[in-house]
Amino acid sequence: MGKVLIADDNRAVQSALELMLSLHDLQTICASSPADAIACVEREPIDLVIQDMNFAADTTSGDEGVALFRELRARDPDLPIILLTAWTHLETAIELVKSGAADYLSKPWDDDKLATSVKNLLALRKARTANRRVVLTRSRARTQLTTQYDLCGVVYESDAMHEVVAIACRVAKADVPVLITGPSGSGKEKIAEIVQRNSAVRDGPFVRVHLGALPAELVSAELFGAEAGAYTGANKARAGRFEAADGGTLFLDEIATLSLDGQVKLLRTLQTGQFERLGSTQTRSVKVRVIAATNVDLRQAIKAGQFREDLFYRLNVIELKVPALADRSEDVAPLARSFVDNAHRLSSGAVDALETYVWPGNVRELQNCIRRACLLATSAEITAADLGLAGAIVEPRPLEEPDKDTIERLLARHGGVVAAAARELGLSRQALYRRMEKFGIDIPQ
Ligand SMILES: Nc1ncnc2c1ncn2[C@@H]1O[C@H](COP(=O)(O)OP(=O)(O)OP(=O)(O)O)[C@@H](O)[C@H]1O
Ligand SMILES: [Mg+2]
Repeated sequence: MGKVLIADDNRAVQSALELMLSLHDLQTICASSPADAIACVEREPIDLVIQDMNFAADTTSGDEGVALFRELRARDPDLPIILLTAWTHLETAIELVKSGAADYLSKPWDDDKLATSVKNLLALRKARTANRRVVLTRSRARTQLTTQYDLCGVVYESDAMHEVVAIACRVAKADVPVLITGPSGSGKEKIAEIVQRNSAVRDGPFVRVHLGALPAELVSAELFGAEAGAYTGANKARAGRFEAADGGTLFLDEIATLSLDGQVKLLRTLQTGQFERLGSTQTRSVKVRVIAATNVDLRQAIKAGQFREDLFYRLNVIELKVPALADRSEDVAPLARSFVDNAHRLSSGAVDALETYVWPGNVRELQNCIRRACLLATSAEITAADLGLAGAIVEPRPLEEPDKDTIERLLARHGGVVAAAARELGLSRQALYRRMEKFGIDIPQ
């Protein structure tokens, strides 16, 4: 565990604390003056300080303690400091606690209370250090992505989505087909946009075909074009989407709905870049970057004989899997805020409700829900009731609103791991963060 610095000029206090802390398997080191204490933290890693307010025998002002506290804080703003103080300096101690000391205890202290406080603070510090490392690496990676690529306004907070966006950016430049999979409304088209916008052909056309919306008999004409009279209603010759996308990107949405006949034609065009318009024998050539998307499990469709395996492998050189919104609940609040118009804001109860709902329709459902709430809300603040999520599958809510003590206790018990404490409270992680913010509890990161 961590090392505790005891800064007190009273030898009896030093040894009493040393003994007490050693019983809890904690390492200690003692300093008898503020200068000693500073030398200690400069010399070796210290995880917590227990400090007196008065050092020189002739002063009782507490000024030395305040100066030491300030100096320690300046060196390491996160170093937990417990102030041991005589009742005469309680007010000063309280002031310091407000300015960020971790805790204060009046002399004579209660051993159990002190030991608990030390352990909790050490656990929090440990979790915070580990978290900070993760957060730092993560935020560096994210900044890098934003500066290097056009992210088309994609909003996310989760690592899962960051992975997808990062891979989309990386593969954008390569001239390979990309298959984007994921449930309906999860943001597949958004990812397709990112691939297109960061590709070598970003200045070329970007043509989108929603295959699911086309009657099967019209798909070929739509993709490859048709000569006049090629089919009933084809009065004049028209170019297909492949031709329109020449030198650019063709986005084939809902690829699984393509008929087996359409699949054969598409495969050939992907392999050779060649095709004929319907009713024509003239072979045409195009250079098109194809991005396909589907919310269907194509591997299953292959097994069921509904999708050609060779086409699958052709399209699936790179597969980008967009996770369901329910699997990345950190994204719900930032997405919701991004959808709220300028005239409204979300109440914290509304955010709680959004975060506990499961979103079977994913981001699109969230977007619609917020748009509707903006229209229907009777005040500038959108409440949980305005969201109309009644009948939603809502996780059990906590029976009682947890107080500051409960939250701190649980955080300490879970070593500062917010997700674990939240689970025990029956709250979402974000909901617990908001309560920590309200109570001024440091977020361990
Ligand atoms: N991460 C995101 N950030 C911002 N907007 C998003 C994000 N994900 C999705 N959207 C928005 O949500 C809506 C639905 O997303 P999109 O159309 O990309 O989903 P989809 O997976 O293609 O859905 P479908 O399967 O129905 O075709 C769009 O308006 C899109 O701009
Ligand atoms: Mg789509």
